[in-house]
Amino acid sequence: MKRTLLSLLLAAACLCVFLFAGCGERAPDVPDTPDGPDTPAVEPDAPDISSEASIIVYFSATGNTERAANALREYTGAALYEIVPAEPYTEDDLNYRDDDCRANREQNDPDCRPAIAGETPGLAEYEVIYLGFPIWHGRMPKIMFTFLELYDLAGKTVMPFCTSGGSGISSAVREIAGLQPSAQVKEGLRVTDYAQFTGWLEEQLG
Ligand SMILES: Cc1cc2nc3c(=O)[nH]c(=O)nc-3n(C[C@H](O)[C@H](O)[C@H](O)COP(=O)(O)O)c2cc1C
Repeated sequence: MKRTLLSLLLAAACLCVFLFAGCGERAPDVPDTPDGPDTPAVEPDAPDISSEASIIVYFSATGNTERAANALREYTGAALYEIVPAEPYTEDDLNYRDDDCRANREQNDPDCRPAIAGETPGLAEYEVIYLGFPIWHGRMPKIMFTFLELYDLAGKTVMPFCTSGGSGISSAVREIAGLQPSAQVKEGLRVTDYAQFTGWLEEQLG
């Protein structure tokens, strides 16, 4: 009787040791991921189809083109880069009723190339470059020339868009094509309503 009781107690002890040892083990296929704020929400090697191949490059002096660029980003998921002038434009600089204001002088000077602040982006990975700017005296602001002369966009698709008080984008598109003869420069869009983006994207890229 005593021996049977002893055997039973021994068996129970062995079972406990086995169970506790098992509880401490991790399933072999659970990856060892950190569980902190740095953990990416998306699997690191999940493809990001929305933004990897296109970038919106824009210049905006008073915010209209910037708003259009942000709206376009919603439609495309493209990356975004703002061309920031090394010397910011003041209100007086933009007073186009004054012949001698900075913006007017720059537009009238064929050699003027206003400097861009900070580092300009690498564009090698992008296939589609959306290019946004305001119209100044019927053309692109000269800082867009600075930008376009820094790059060779051969083989890339360029999608120009602008905001303006009424002037069209066609002269600017011709200028872009002249500066980037080996790029595929698509029909430009003068943005008046963000809903225009859908049709433009379908017609030019679809
Ligand atoms: C120096 C200057 C020249 C401009 N020239 C024109 C023009 O020729 N035609 C036009 O329709 N609007 C013209 N505008 C108005 C801008 O194109 C318009 O306000 C644009 O939306 C501004 O964009 P932004 O807010 O992104 O800078 C001019 C504005 C400035 C400051």
